Amino acid sequence: VEKVVIIGAGSFGREVIEIFKCQNKEKKSWDILGFLDDNKKLHEKEFNGFSVLGGLEWLKSNDSENLYCVIAIGTPKIQRIVFEKVKKYGARFTKAIHPSVIMSDSIELGQGVILCAGCILTINIKIGNFSIINMNSTIGHDVVVGDFCVINPAVKINGEDVIGDNTVIGTGATLIDEISVGENVTIGAGAVVIKPVPDNVVVFGVPAKIVMHKKHD
Ligand SMILES: CC(C)(COP(=O)(O)OP(=O)(O)OC[C@H]1O[C@@H](n2cnc3c(N)ncnc32)[C@H](O)[C@@H]1OP(=O)(O)O)[C@@H](O)C(=O)NCCC(=O)NCCS
Repeated sequence: VEKVVIIGAGSFGREVIEIFKCQNKEKKSWDILGFLDDNKKLHEKEFNGFSVLGGLEWLKSNDSENLYCVIAIGTPKIQRIVFEKVKKYGARFTKAIHPSVIMSDSIELGQGVILCAGCILTINIKIGNFSIINMNSTIGHDVVVGDFCVINPAVKINGEDVIGDNTVIGTGATLIDEISVGENVTIGAGAVVIKPVPDNVVVFGVPAKIVMHKKHD
Protein backbone atom coordinates (compact mmCIF):
# COMPACT_ATOMS: atom_id res chain seq x y z
CA VAL A 1 0.00 0.00 0.00
CA GLU A 2 1.42 3.38 -1.07
CA LYS A 3 0.77 6.69 0.65
CA VAL A 4 -0.81 9.61 -1.19
CA VAL A 5 -1.34 13.28 -0.39
CA ILE A 6 -3.61 15.52 -2.42
CA ILE A 7 -2.19 18.97 -3.16
CA GLY A 8 -5.04 21.47 -3.07
CA ALA A 9 -7.81 21.30 -0.48
CA GLY A 10 -10.36 23.08 -2.66
CA SER A 11 -13.45 21.50 -4.17
CA PHE A 12 -11.48 19.67 -6.86
CA GLY A 13 -9.02 18.28 -4.29
CA ARG A 14 -11.98 16.82 -2.42
CA GLU A 15 -13.26 15.23 -5.62
CA VAL A 16 -9.83 13.76 -6.28
CA ILE A 17 -9.72 12.18 -2.78
CA GLU A 18 -12.88 10.38 -3.85
CA ILE A 19 -11.01 8.86 -6.82
CA PHE A 20 -8.51 7.24 -4.43
CA LYS A 21 -11.33 6.10 -2.14
CA CYS A 22 -13.02 4.45 -5.14
CA GLN A 23 -9.74 2.76 -6.11
CA ASN A 24 -9.48 1.44 -2.56
CA LYS A 25 -12.98 -0.03 -2.79
CA GLU A 26 -11.77 -2.14 -5.74
CA LYS A 27 -8.47 -3.05 -4.08
CA LYS A 28 -6.90 -1.43 -1.04
CA SER A 29 -3.96 0.31 -2.75
CA TRP A 30 -3.66 3.71 -1.05
CA ASP A 31 -3.13 5.01 2.41
CA ILE A 32 -4.75 8.45 1.87
CA LEU A 33 -2.96 10.82 4.25
CA GLY A 34 -4.92 14.00 3.50
CA PHE A 35 -4.44 17.36 1.79
CA LEU A 36 -1.62 19.88 1.50
CA ASP A 37 -2.47 23.51 0.84
CA ASP A 38 -0.47 26.73 1.25
CA ASN A 39 -3.62 28.54 2.42
CA LYS A 40 -2.88 28.64 6.18
CA LYS A 41 -6.57 29.21 6.98
CA LEU A 42 -7.22 25.64 5.89
CA HIS A 43 -4.52 24.01 8.01
CA GLU A 44 -5.77 21.38 10.43
CA LYS A 45 -9.27 21.70 8.99
CA GLU A 46 -11.00 18.54 7.85
CA PHE A 47 -12.84 17.98 4.57
CA ASN A 48 -14.81 14.84 3.78
CA GLY A 49 -13.04 13.05 6.61
CA PHE A 50 -9.47 14.03 5.62
CA SER A 51 -7.34 16.73 7.23
CA VAL A 52 -5.20 19.44 5.74
CA LEU A 53 -1.79 18.34 6.96
CA GLY A 54 -0.03 21.64 6.23
CA GLY A 55 1.48 23.64 3.40
CA LEU A 56 3.61 22.28 0.57
CA GLU A 57 6.67 22.43 2.82
CA TRP A 58 5.20 19.48 4.73
CA LEU A 59 6.77 17.36 2.01
CA LYS A 60 10.29 18.45 3.05
CA SER A 61 9.98 16.86 6.48
CA ASN A 62 7.85 13.89 5.45
CA ASP A 63 9.81 12.47 2.55
CA SER A 64 9.45 8.73 2.19
CA GLU A 65 9.96 6.33 -0.71
CA ASN A 66 6.35 5.25 -0.91
CA LEU A 67 4.78 8.72 -0.61
CA TYR A 68 3.14 10.12 -3.75
CA CYS A 69 1.43 13.43 -4.54
CA VAL A 70 -1.24 14.49 -6.96
CA ILE A 71 -1.80 18.15 -7.88
CA ALA A 72 -5.56 18.69 -7.74
CA ILE A 73 -5.81 22.31 -8.82
CA GLY A 74 -7.85 23.39 -11.85
CA THR A 75 -5.76 26.39 -12.99
CA PRO A 76 -2.73 25.69 -15.22
CA LYS A 77 -0.71 28.65 -13.95
CA ILE A 78 -1.12 27.60 -10.31
CA GLN A 79 -0.55 23.92 -11.13
CA ARG A 80 2.81 24.87 -12.64
CA ILE A 81 3.85 27.06 -9.68
CA VAL A 82 2.96 24.24 -7.29
CA PHE A 83 4.79 21.69 -9.43
CA GLU A 84 7.99 23.79 -9.49
CA LYS A 85 7.81 24.18 -5.72
CA VAL A 86 7.15 20.56 -4.75
CA LYS A 87 9.70 19.28 -7.28
CA LYS A 88 12.36 21.00 -5.15
CA TYR A 89 11.13 19.00 -2.16
CA GLY A 90 11.70 15.78 -4.09
CA ALA A 91 7.99 15.04 -4.60
CA ARG A 92 7.02 11.89 -6.46
CA PHE A 93 3.78 12.00 -8.40
CA THR A 94 1.06 9.52 -9.08
CA LYS A 95 -1.79 9.55 -11.55
CA ALA A 96 -5.38 9.51 -10.27
CA ILE A 97 -7.64 7.40 -12.45
CA HIS A 98 -11.22 6.73 -11.43
CA PRO A 99 -12.13 3.04 -11.80
CA SER A 100 -15.06 3.94 -14.08
CA VAL A 101 -12.76 5.40 -16.78
CA ILE A 102 -12.89 3.48 -20.05
CA MET A 103 -9.68 3.49 -22.06
CA SER A 104 -7.66 1.23 -24.31
CA ASP A 105 -4.08 0.09 -23.73
CA SER A 106 -2.87 2.47 -26.48
CA ILE A 107 -3.22 5.52 -24.24
CA GLU A 108 -0.10 7.34 -23.06
CA LEU A 109 -0.55 9.27 -19.82
CA GLY A 110 2.02 11.73 -18.48
CA GLN A 111 2.96 11.97 -14.83
CA GLY A 112 0.36 13.28 -12.40
CA VAL A 113 -2.55 13.02 -14.87
CA ILE A 114 -6.05 12.98 -13.33
CA LEU A 115 -8.87 11.16 -15.09
CA CYS A 116 -12.22 11.67 -13.34
CA ALA A 117 -15.29 9.45 -13.22
CA GLY A 118 -16.97 8.52 -16.47
CA CYS A 119 -14.28 9.62 -18.93
CA ILE A 120 -13.86 7.65 -22.12
CA LEU A 121 -10.60 7.67 -24.07
CA THR A 122 -10.55 5.53 -27.19
CA ILE A 123 -7.26 4.77 -28.95
CA ASN A 124 -3.76 6.19 -29.55
CA ILE A 125 -4.25 9.20 -27.29
CA LYS A 126 -1.52 11.11 -25.48
CA ILE A 127 -2.28 13.15 -22.37
CA GLY A 128 0.58 15.39 -21.17
CA ASN A 129 1.98 15.77 -17.67
CA PHE A 130 -0.38 17.01 -14.94
CA SER A 131 -3.34 17.45 -17.24
CA ILE A 132 -6.80 16.97 -15.77
CA ILE A 133 -9.68 15.37 -17.63
CA ASN A 134 -12.78 16.09 -15.56
CA MET A 135 -15.82 13.84 -15.34
CA ASN A 136 -17.75 12.49 -18.30
CA SER A 137 -15.40 13.91 -20.93
CA THR A 138 -14.75 11.91 -24.07
CA ILE A 139 -11.56 11.88 -26.11
CA GLY A 140 -11.42 10.33 -29.58
CA HIS A 141 -8.68 8.58 -31.53
CA ASP A 142 -5.19 10.06 -32.02
CA VAL A 143 -5.77 13.11 -29.83
CA VAL A 144 -2.81 14.84 -28.19
CA VAL A 145 -3.40 16.92 -25.06
CA GLY A 146 -0.43 18.98 -23.82
CA ASP A 147 0.94 19.49 -20.30
CA PHE A 148 -1.01 21.27 -17.53
CA CYS A 149 -4.29 21.33 -19.45
CA VAL A 150 -7.64 21.43 -17.67
CA ILE A 151 -10.48 19.75 -19.52
CA ASN A 152 -13.64 20.52 -17.55
CA PRO A 153 -16.65 18.18 -17.24
CA ALA A 154 -18.47 16.78 -20.26
CA VAL A 155 -16.09 18.09 -22.92
CA LYS A 156 -16.05 16.29 -26.25
CA ILE A 157 -12.66 16.21 -27.93
CA ASN A 158 -12.92 14.42 -31.25
CA GLY A 159 -10.44 12.45 -33.34
CA GLU A 160 -7.00 13.88 -34.17
CA ASP A 161 -7.46 17.09 -32.21
CA VAL A 162 -4.27 18.58 -30.76
CA ILE A 163 -4.44 20.73 -27.63
CA GLY A 164 -1.46 22.88 -26.59
CA ASP A 165 0.00 23.20 -23.07
CA ASN A 166 -1.77 25.23 -20.35
CA THR A 167 -5.10 25.25 -22.13
CA VAL A 168 -8.46 25.19 -20.32
CA ILE A 169 -11.57 23.84 -22.00
CA GLY A 170 -14.88 24.92 -20.42
CA THR A 171 -17.53 22.46 -19.43
CA GLY A 172 -19.69 21.04 -22.20
CA ALA A 173 -17.50 22.36 -25.03
CA THR A 174 -17.22 20.33 -28.21
CA LEU A 175 -14.26 20.28 -30.59
CA ILE A 176 -14.92 18.75 -33.97
CA ASP A 177 -12.27 16.39 -35.32
CA GLU A 178 -8.83 17.44 -36.66
CA ILE A 179 -8.76 20.75 -34.80
CA SER A 180 -5.58 22.24 -33.37
CA VAL A 181 -5.86 24.42 -30.29
CA GLY A 182 -2.87 26.49 -29.19
CA GLU A 183 -1.16 26.94 -25.85
CA ASN A 184 -2.60 29.03 -23.02
CA VAL A 185 -6.05 29.10 -24.58
CA THR A 186 -9.38 29.28 -22.75
CA ILE A 187 -12.36 27.75 -24.51
CA GLY A 188 -15.66 28.91 -22.95
CA ALA A 189 -18.29 26.58 -21.57
CA GLY A 190 -20.58 25.16 -24.25
CA ALA A 191 -18.43 26.37 -27.17
CA VAL A 192 -18.40 24.46 -30.43
CA VAL A 193 -14.92 24.73 -31.90
CA ILE A 194 -14.88 24.19 -35.66
CA LYS A 195 -11.68 26.06 -36.63
CA PRO A 196 -8.08 26.00 -35.37
CA VAL A 197 -7.47 28.20 -32.32
CA PRO A 198 -4.16 30.13 -32.02
CA ASP A 199 -2.09 30.49 -28.81
CA ASN A 200 -3.06 32.87 -25.98
CA VAL A 201 -6.71 33.58 -26.75
CA VAL A 202 -10.15 33.15 -25.21
CA VAL A 203 -12.82 31.75 -27.50
CA PHE A 204 -16.46 30.94 -26.94
CA GLY A 205 -19.80 30.60 -28.68
CA VAL A 206 -21.33 28.44 -31.36
CA PRO A 207 -19.37 28.41 -33.55
CA ALA A 208 -16.51 29.49 -31.27
CA LYS A 209 -14.90 32.85 -32.05
CA ILE A 210 -11.93 34.69 -30.53
CA VAL A 211 -13.21 37.14 -27.91
CA MET A 212 -9.95 38.13 -26.24
CA HIS A 213 -6.18 37.99 -26.70
CA LYS A 214 -4.37 37.12 -23.47
CA LYS A 215 -0.95 38.19 -22.27
CA HIS A 216 1.28 35.12 -22.25
CA ASP A 217 1.51 33.76 -18.69
C1 LIG B 1 -15.27 32.04 -21.27
C2 LIG B 1 -15.13 32.43 -19.84
C3 LIG B 1 -13.74 32.02 -19.31
C4 LIG B 1 -15.27 33.95 -19.77
O1 LIG B 1 -15.19 34.39 -18.44
P1 LIG B 1 -15.23 35.95 -18.12
O2 LIG B 1 -14.11 36.65 -18.83
O3 LIG B 1 -15.29 36.08 -16.63
O4 LIG B 1 -16.56 36.41 -18.82
P2 LIG B 1 -17.85 37.17 -18.20
O5 LIG B 1 -18.60 36.24 -17.30
O6 LIG B 1 -17.41 38.50 -17.67
O7 LIG B 1 -18.72 37.39 -19.51
C5 LIG B 1 -18.37 38.36 -20.48
C6 LIG B 1 -19.35 38.22 -21.63
O8 LIG B 1 -19.11 36.99 -22.30
C7 LIG B 1 -20.29 36.17 -22.33
N1 LIG B 1 -19.87 34.78 -22.09
C8 LIG B 1 -19.06 34.35 -21.11
N2 LIG B 1 -18.85 33.03 -21.21
C9 LIG B 1 -19.52 32.62 -22.30
C10 LIG B 1 -19.69 31.35 -22.91
N3 LIG B 1 -19.08 30.27 -22.43
N4 LIG B 1 -20.45 31.27 -24.01
C11 LIG B 1 -21.05 32.38 -24.51
N5 LIG B 1 -20.93 33.61 -23.96
C12 LIG B 1 -20.18 33.73 -22.86
C13 LIG B 1 -21.15 36.70 -21.18
O9 LIG B 1 -22.51 36.43 -21.41
C14 LIG B 1 -20.82 38.18 -21.22
O10 LIG B 1 -21.56 38.76 -22.27
P3 LIG B 1 -22.09 40.29 -22.18
O11 LIG B 1 -20.85 41.14 -22.08
O12 LIG B 1 -22.83 40.46 -23.46
O13 LIG B 1 -22.92 40.35 -20.95
C15 LIG B 1 -16.17 31.75 -18.90
O14 LIG B 1 -17.45 32.33 -19.03
C16 LIG B 1 -16.31 30.26 -19.16
O15 LIG B 1 -17.07 29.77 -20.00
N6 LIG B 1 -15.54 29.47 -18.35
C17 LIG B 1 -15.58 28.02 -18.32
C18 LIG B 1 -15.85 27.62 -16.87
C19 LIG B 1 -16.00 26.13 -16.65
O16 LIG B 1 -16.08 25.31 -17.54
N7 LIG B 1 -16.03 25.78 -15.36
C20 LIG B 1 -16.15 24.41 -14.97
C21 LIG B 1 -15.49 24.22 -13.65
S1 LIG B 1 -15.50 22.52 -13.15
